[in-house]
Amino acid sequence: MITFLRILTGLVLLGLLVLAAILFIPVQRTPALAALPEHYTPPEGAGEYAMRLADCEACHTAEGGTPFAGGRKIESPLGTIYSTNITPDEETGIGRYSLDEFRAALYDGIRQDGAHLYPAMPYANYRKLSEEDVRALYAFFMEEVEPVSNSGPQTALPFPFSQRWGIRTWKWAALGEPGELSSTGDALYDRGAYLVEGPGHCGACHSPRNLVMGEAGYTAADGDFLMGGEIDGWTAPPLRGPDSAIRRWSADDLKLFLASGRNNHAGVNGEMQLVVRDSLQFYSSEDLDAVVAYLRALADSEEEPRPADPPRTLDRLRDEIGGTGAVATGAVGTDTGGTAGTREVGETEAVLTAAEPGMALGPRLYLDNCNACHFVDGLGADQVFPELDGNSLVNAPSAAGLIDTILHGAELPSTSLRPYSLRMPGFAQRLTDEEVAELATFLRSAWSNGAEAVTTADVTARRDQAEERAAAE
Ligand code: HEC
Ligand code: HEC
Ligand code: HEC
Repeated sequence: MITFLRILTGLVLLGLLVLAAILFIPVQRTPALAALPEHYTPPEGAGEYAMRLADCEACHTAEGGTPFAGGRKIESPLGTIYSTNITPDEETGIGRYSLDEFRAALYDGIRQDGAHLYPAMPYANYRKLSEEDVRALYAFFMEEVEPVSNSGPQTALPFPFSQRWGIRTWKWAALGEPGELSSTGDALYDRGAYLVEGPGHCGACHSPRNLVMGEAGYTAADGDFLMGGEIDGWTAPPLRGPDSAIRRWSADDLKLFLASGRNNHAGVNGEMQLVVRDSLQFYSSEDLDAVVAYLRALADSEEEPRPADPPRTLDRLRDEIGGTGAVATGAVGTDTGGTAGTREVGETEAVLTAAEPGMALGPRLYLDNCNACHFVDGLGADQVFPELDGNSLVNAPSAAGLIDTILHGAELPSTSLRPYSLRMPGFAQRLTDEEVAELATFLRSAWSNGAEAVTTADVTARRDQAEERAAAE
């Protein structure tokens, strides 16, 4: 009892201390990281480019709304948060922000009136923005963006999250140091580190969260940085470490994915689509090379060696050898695989090719609904139909992305490099929740895949959520 009272007294004292700190320690605005001349003018086009690097448009534009006028719904674990108007309108936008106030919004998540911004605004990452980019952004928003009057829907989170002062304690626990990165002497790597850790805010989605819901690491030196996270139920796959699929991609594959959202392995989906559509496709070729160099250096510094390329498929081998006769199709149908070059025909492909009348529901549904585009080898067609074998979305710890894709289909965004958009139909009308679960479970164990089974309840939950959201629109 005495120990209990002591702990209780301790906690009360601690609480009072924190409260006093919140009330009496003045809010800090991080000053400029570099002293640029007061009348420094950013180079022509630098502002818009910095906006693309940091992807301000994706969040600050409502579905179908005027760019930067705010009102986009952001689902967070605390509730729905609406982005605000960042056009230079004096009443409803940021027209009255001084440079220092603007910098504080980016570095410290502090609004002009001193209120704390919810971390849905990625200031945890923007703390690394260079002063040149801050100046360029300020000039862009003040001088190049047209003011739009729009107060939009207001964020109203339930108590206690409605109390913005509480965010201050979160910041103390969760934010890293502000400031630019140290130089390694490798200019390409350094630029990549800046882009990924700073404006690109890749870690906001691709890093796991720690106990206080902060990003578990902000730099390459932190072991958890970019080790995979979750957004809106979907897995944002690890970009480093043994489970990262991109470690099996070539540098060109990775660059192509970032620039166009599609390569020979995967198609971009979910929240990442917006990143490609609104931000990455506008990165200069040099900046994309820098991002790729940095991500590959991260992968190479891991203890596990980069795995070899996956075995080639029958179809690819045929293409490479030329003609269909060179590789005996007799190889198909054996569980142990044929001897076609270096490649084995695995069990899945054999089952799908044989298409026995008694085959299980999962593979049958695949043949009936998916095979026409993704094929028995699960390797689709380069840059058109993504590979399902080894695909991150298929194997993700959270099956939400896979379920959503089967139910609602998917559409690759149009980019300047690949202007035609490609659509996969949705199967919500054709397949029951049980069938989707069977199909997804099959996919997650087909070919070289190995992920947990999906239950009917998982599918029902995603279907219900989509219907609720559609009804709320
Ligand atoms: C991942 C989404 C996201 C991105 C990317 C983002 N913002 Fe925000 N931003 C928000 C949200 C959400 C709010 C409102 C938060 C709140 O109400 O607490 C916000 C608030 C702000 C505010 C405060 C405005 C005010 O007075 O209400 C400014 C300024 C701002 N953002 C500027 C930017 C700039 C400049 C960029 C690009 C460099 C950017 N934001 C990128 C989500 C984002
Ligand atoms: C708003 C959240 C978000 C941000 C920010 C984000 N990503 Fe993603 N990313 C995702 C999600 C979700 C996926 C999985 C969906 C998919 O595969 O298309 C993904 C997938 C990827 C993939 C494919 C990985 C694989 O295994 O198939 C790559 C590569 C990638 N992101 C790189 C980046 C880089 C580089 C940045 C920063 C410039 C970034 N992402 C920023 C959410 C995000
Ligand atoms: C008409 C052709 C077509 C059919 C049929 C089809 N797909 Fe797709 N699928 C595509 C295209 C095109 C994409 C790329 C779109 C995207 O990722 O946004 C895709 C993407 C996917 C992805 C996401 C891959 C990634 O890298 O993000 C999965 C998973 C998938 N399909 C599974 C299936 C399943 C399961 C079925 C059967 C129920 C199916 N597809 C039927 C054309 C098709």
